[in-house]
Amino acid sequence: MISSVKQSTVPLTGSNIFRPKLTAPVRQFSVLPPLPALKTRGKSSVTAITKPLCVSLIEGFGELSKKPSLIACKAYEADRSQPIEEEKPPSEAAKKLKIGIYFATWWALNVVFNIYNKKVLNAFPFPWLTSTLSLACGSLMMLISWATRLAEAPQTDFEFWKTLLPVAVAHTIGHVAATVSMSKVAVSFTHIIKSGEPAFSVLVSRFLLGETFPVSVYLSLIPIIGGCGLAALTELNFNMTGFMGAMISNLAFVLRNIFSKRGMKGKSVGGMNYYACLSMLSLLLLTPFAIAVEGPQMWAVGWQTALSQIGPQFIWWVAAQSVFYHLYNQVSYMSLDQISPLTFSIGNTMKRISVIVSSIIIFHTPVQPINALGAAIAILGTFLYSQAKQ
Ligand code: 3PG
Repeated sequence: MISSVKQSTVPLTGSNIFRPKLTAPVRQFSVLPPLPALKTRGKSSVTAITKPLCVSLIEGFGELSKKPSLIACKAYEADRSQPIEEEKPPSEAAKKLKIGIYFATWWALNVVFNIYNKKVLNAFPFPWLTSTLSLACGSLMMLISWATRLAEAPQTDFEFWKTLLPVAVAHTIGHVAATVSMSKVAVSFTHIIKSGEPAFSVLVSRFLLGETFPVSVYLSLIPIIGGCGLAALTELNFNMTGFMGAMISNLAFVLRNIFSKRGMKGKSVGGMNYYACLSMLSLLLLTPFAIAVEGPQMWAVGWQTALSQIGPQFIWWVAAQSVFYHLYNQVSYMSLDQISPLTFSIGNTMKRISVIVSSIIIFHTPVQPINALGAAIAILGTFLYSQAKQ
């Protein structure tokens, strides 16, 4: 079906040719029946106009600014003989299964990382180097994946790296602070203090971003802060550096998550590649500080001592902590792509329970009942927090 539209009053130039105001005369002469409104289901609606209205001929284009000309427009009706293919949204059960698999993988990788990380730190107490190695290993793994086309390299620009910088600064500080903490205290203690992260999230959002929350959210902070405080006071191997490391890590990771959310908004870089770029930038930031704080001479002596005490398997421990650090973070960023931040934070708390319990069993960490009570109250508070935020 062809409809000719005589363009009489609007001068057509190269700059305004596709402006919406030109659509008015076309509609005025349209002899097509109106298309029925398509039923949309959630976000997966599909536009069924397979052959849209298009300008097929413009006579005397170069002369358009001088004299009005005829434009022949061809309009096609949507082909109704073809069934409209709508992408079926995954069923509730499939979604739950997918999230379940993400969570189980994330926690399992995290438990393995924490165990090997602590084994390495016990034999080789250089948290700045081990933090650097885990970032280096992740960066190398991703560069190889991109080079071999195992994963598609992201398209990034200067703006992307600029917005990633504050995220990388916060990630670097949070990572090195948590590792310093774990080099000084039991893994379980670091994670009990880290279960207080929601309290930092609320305080930062309230005082830095001016966000307000319902009273129930503020009330849920009482058991979180109280439980962490009780656990810290009754910790048999309390160490101030270890405690402060976990606290600094909490603050840094809250800021990282806020900056990450802003940085990922509207970007085409997915969770896996976003984390890969984050690792690379963090590696660049951390390396000079690691050299300045610890340095190659101390590392060489420490490495020889660890090797003589543990044997060649020490190298495997270092490799395992580095590989698993990258993998668990990668899966957690991939989960963030799929689930809400709230579901993510509940998953993170559940993760800490599995890390605390497994590390107490593996490292035979002495725990007093009052200390365990403090941890349980803090974790219960985190659940109350997630409920209050819903
Ligand atoms: C690190 O080294 O970055 C921390 O162990 C991370 O802790 P989290 O991911 O459990 O917060």
